[in-house]
Amino acid sequence: MSLAKVTLFLSFLGAAAAQSAPAPAAPLQTTFPTPKGTVNLSKVKVIAAGQSFDGGMKMYDRSPSTCVGLAALSGGDKEATFLLEQGASISNVILGKNGGEGIHCMGNCRITNVWWTDVCEDAATFKQKSGTSFIRGGGAKGAADKVFQHNGAGTIDIANFYAEDIGKLYRGCGNCNNPNERHVKMENVIIKGVNVAAGINANYGDTAIITNSCIQDGDICGLFTGVTKGQPKQYSKKPDGKSCIATNVRTTC
Ligand SMILES: *[C@@H]1O[C@H](CO)[C@@H](O)[C@H](O)[C@H]1NC(C)=O
Repeated sequence: MSLAKVTLFLSFLGAAAAQSAPAPAAPLQTTFPTPKGTVNLSKVKVIAAGQSFDGGMKMYDRSPSTCVGLAALSGGDKEATFLLEQGASISNVILGKNGGEGIHCMGNCRITNVWWTDVCEDAATFKQKSGTSFIRGGGAKGAADKVFQHNGAGTIDIANFYAEDIGKLYRGCGNCNNPNERHVKMENVIIKGVNVAAGINANYGDTAIITNSCIQDGDICGLFTGVTKGQPKQYSKKPDGKSCIATNVRTTC
């Protein structure tokens, strides 16, 4: 091969690697980081399609607050702190308590080393139509209800995440955008104090696969019958080995 061809071949390999690159690594950390300053956003900050945003471990908050009591929230994109377009990534961010809706992912996204100090309506909402979004490292606390709300379809892949004092770490929407098949993976996750780690609609083919994790003071799975409208019904709290598969999940963390 000529030098030009070798160079072309190597850049091809580089591009192929970027396409299929695994989610960036972030270790499991069980202490919330101290912010290196605060940034107040008067409106939602958009991360454009395919772009990456590194917050440098600063706290990003909304001012005025968009967390105005759970009942008053509409769940709209404008109340979020960050809105990630298709293929966008966010890393090294601490979200403040005044953000009503945390992060909204409009397509596949990557969330790496992101911390929610006091979750309002939810920490992140996933609207992707297919494919996988990745959460690596980071943590969340103080969620009255949900941390990761999956309203679209496809897979949410969570690893090395820490949570305390939350309602659900993950919930596939029980009564919106249904029927839709949704999947969640949790690997090396520690949760101290939770209602349900993974809430899924088994009747729509949803699955939850939880491995090498610790879930203390709470249920591993909430198996629900999802609905197109009205209230979904929960019928089990236990892994059934089919819709919810838990392997090596400890209960004392
Ligand atoms: C951000 O806004 C809050 C009120 O929501 C205010 O107390 C704080 O001083 C502001 N911080 C900065 C860095 O502007």
